[in-house]
Amino acid sequence: MNTQEYIRREDKYGAHNYHPLPVVLERGEGPFVWDVEGKRYFDFLSAYSAVNQGHCHPEIIKALIDQAPKLTLTSRAFYNSVLGEYEEYITKYFKYDKVLPMNSGAEADETALKLCRKWAYKKKNIKQNKAKIICCEGNFHGRTITIISMSTDPDARNDYGPFTPGFIIIPYNNIPALENALKDPDVAGFLVEPIQGEAGVYVPDEGYLKKSYDLCKKHNVLFIADEIQTGLGRTGKQLGCDHEGVRPDILILGKALSGGVMPVSAVLADDEIMLTIKPGEHGSTFGGNALAGKVAIAALEVIKKENLAENSDRLGKIFRKEMRSIKTDMIELVRGKGLLNAVVIKPKGGKTAWDVCLAMKDKGVIAKPTHENIIRFAPPLVITEKQLREAIVLIKEAFRLFE
Ligand SMILES: Cc1ncc(COP(=O)(O)O)c(C=O)c1O
Repeated sequence: MNTQEYIRREDKYGAHNYHPLPVVLERGEGPFVWDVEGKRYFDFLSAYSAVNQGHCHPEIIKALIDQAPKLTLTSRAFYNSVLGEYEEYITKYFKYDKVLPMNSGAEADETALKLCRKWAYKKKNIKQNKAKIICCEGNFHGRTITIISMSTDPDARNDYGPFTPGFIIIPYNNIPALENALKDPDVAGFLVEPIQGEAGVYVPDEGYLKKSYDLCKKHNVLFIADEIQTGLGRTGKQLGCDHEGVRPDILILGKALSGGVMPVSAVLADDEIMLTIKPGEHGSTFGGNALAGKVAIAALEVIKKENLAENSDRLGKIFRKEMRSIKTDMIELVRGKGLLNAVVIKPKGGKTAWDVCLAMKDKGVIAKPTHENIIRFAPPLVITEKQLREAIVLIKEAFRLFE
């Protein structure tokens, strides 16, 4: 089958809820993927930052293969021999008392919202059904009904109402707005992305996270960080919040927690918060399965052992400098932290960010526009400086085609 035939088959039998770049991938290794015609590409999306450790990292795949024939899933109706090992490993890694294991990012966000509400009623003594959670314009936390109830993106919300109440939406990167919203005594939590990834890699002002955290503490409100995209080395530190020395009350992780091998997400918190949820009050059939536990341990090991956060920090600086040096009137702005970067495109002669992505694909680099005019550049963090510079040459060649 050729590329067009693969695409036609997906089109015919699959829901049309995505608009993929016309490339059909069949193999991946480190920062590279190959299409069904055998052409190699630099992957500059990394499955939306799920593949920070590179495609098919041998140590993560080995953990999967070693565990798969022994035991995969027991449900949480029974104990299993891996879950405790994983729980001990991840809580010591991030220095929290407890972890609640889930699968997808959206589920982990839902878990954090439920945990926050439970804490509001059990510990903060907010009246039943009155708890509110502050979130930010432009947020992206997933696709469930409750999560899109926080969204300000019409594509995420249109025709999906009615929505879940209990959210206060304020502008991102706006301390006075947060200060004002926190005056409401029924506020239990503030949910925030350290950098808004899906919105187009919006990096807040320096000090925003720390000031937000301090304000939350002043008002006895939980600071909840969605680090599903910014965590695990992506922004040049272990966590996005590490840039400002902030330790979230509730930490949400997903994506690269499995190195992209399977859906693994987690919510971390201390006992005062986590133990407000009692047996039977929340859960997931697959959450905490033995296969996921072994895979997640291996994925976290790789991040530390291969210094991926440091690599991300160093190479990110090179990437932004090189992008800013491109002589083109199609680049309006370059922003980011570590290897989570965005180039804002100014359309020219009817050519848009989508056309730039198609041109880059032809050159051998794949990335995807977000919100029409923004291209996110987020290669696997295992990419070497030599490989990055090779990819930059290809990206520059693609931009030259529009001059
Ligand atoms: C910050 C953030 N939170 C949550 C999610 C949702 O994760 P998932 O698609 O695994 O449900 C994403 C996905 O892009 C994300 O970037």
